[in-house]
Amino acid sequence: MPQQVRAVVAKAKGEPVSIETIEIPDPGPGEAVVKIQACGVCHTDLHYREGAINDEFPFLLGHEASGIVESLGEGVTNVEVGDFVILNWRAVCGDCRSCNRGNPHLCFNTHNATQKMTLDGQELSPALGIGAFAEKTLVHSGQCTKVNPAAKPEVAGLIGCGVMAGLGAAMNTGEVGHGDSVAVFGCGGVGDAAIAGAHLAGASTIIAVDLDDKKLEWAKEFGATHTINAAGTDVVKAIQDLTDGNGVDVAIEAVGLPQTYEQAFYARDLAGTVVLVGVPNPEMKIELPLIDVFGRGGSLKSSWYGDCLPSRDFPMLIDLYLQGRLDLERFVSETITLEDVEEAFHKMEAGEVLRSVVVL
Ligand SMILES: NC(=O)c1ccc[n+]([C@@H]2O[C@H](COP(=O)([O-])OP(=O)(O)OC[C@H]3O[C@@H](n4cnc5c(N)ncnc54)[C@H](O)[C@@H]3O)[C@@H](O)[C@H]2O)c1
Ligand SMILES: [Zn+2]
Ligand SMILES: [Zn+2]
Repeated sequence: MPQQVRAVVAKAKGEPVSIETIEIPDPGPGEAVVKIQACGVCHTDLHYREGAINDEFPFLLGHEASGIVESLGEGVTNVEVGDFVILNWRAVCGDCRSCNRGNPHLCFNTHNATQKMTLDGQELSPALGIGAFAEKTLVHSGQCTKVNPAAKPEVAGLIGCGVMAGLGAAMNTGEVGHGDSVAVFGCGGVGDAAIAGAHLAGASTIIAVDLDDKKLEWAKEFGATHTINAAGTDVVKAIQDLTDGNGVDVAIEAVGLPQTYEQAFYARDLAGTVVLVGVPNPEMKIELPLIDVFGRGGSLKSSWYGDCLPSRDFPMLIDLYLQGRLDLERFVSETITLEDVEEAFHKMEAGEVLRSVVVL
């Protein structure tokens, strides 16, 4: 029987979100209904409600979630009812060009639920194919990654997006190694996870850049060795000054703005790597002298979801957290209810929180 549950919906561009009663179908073949226990508020949710991702309103927001598998459709073998899972937005297909080349972490044809959740008969677009600011959601079973249930739900859920995106931007995409110098632009949840990832990977210099001194203080707690407040500062010069005039080996942009991308581009050493993890809006453009792109060498990379393979990376990160080697609890600024999501967006914009996490 289809179920009615409470959920946070963005009905129109730029309008405050509202709590609605939505309908969830029974899981069809390959699908799962998950009872949500926690879901973090990521900047990408705000991008959706601002119409910066696409205009397929109404959106069912929320995508950084953990929960318990409640029911399964036919043919599901990777999880069982009752499993504690983190939801992922990379359910690999196993058969696209990328999967066939042995790169499932870059799968070009990831799975989502085939059936639609609805609001008054209208189909909802779940954020990143998840939609977890809801009591329950419908996903493809491949979007459920089973992890150790000893982890707190509000902590585990964060691995489902921002923390994975940041850690992976440093460890997977940027391939940060021992002794590397790294700069991270933007110290929200994603940027701080990149700092934590650079720290785990053995970087010796980790420079945090933000406009907000409070964010820079928090960045130090994740492993930043130096901080730069970008307001009124020549950021590129400040980074060069901290690296013997050379710039960093890996520059990670975790804001999603042309000016911070350009700073990252020029703040890296020759043959260095730029990693773009911040999500720009479709109007944004950058202009760079092509001779600088050529002459500085190195690589310009984009990182989607930290180039993660959920089945490989989520259980590993939960293990590191349970062993006390990755302080995921530090990302949780506050726990809130579904009713508080709109206010959490304002707190995020005002820089008051790293992650507000809805707990159900
Ligand atoms: N690539 C991916 O897979 C992926 C996944 C999740 C989120 N994201 C994106 O990552 C970005 C960061 O997400 P978040 O949740 O950490 O957001 P956030 O809003 O919590 O953090 C952004 C930070 O950037 C800082 N900032 C803003 N302008 C700046 C500037 N000019 N110079 C330096 N710092 C500046 C802000 O003060 C803030 O601390 C967003 O664009 C989000 O959509 C990408
Ligand atoms: Zn694939
Ligand atoms: Zn996200």
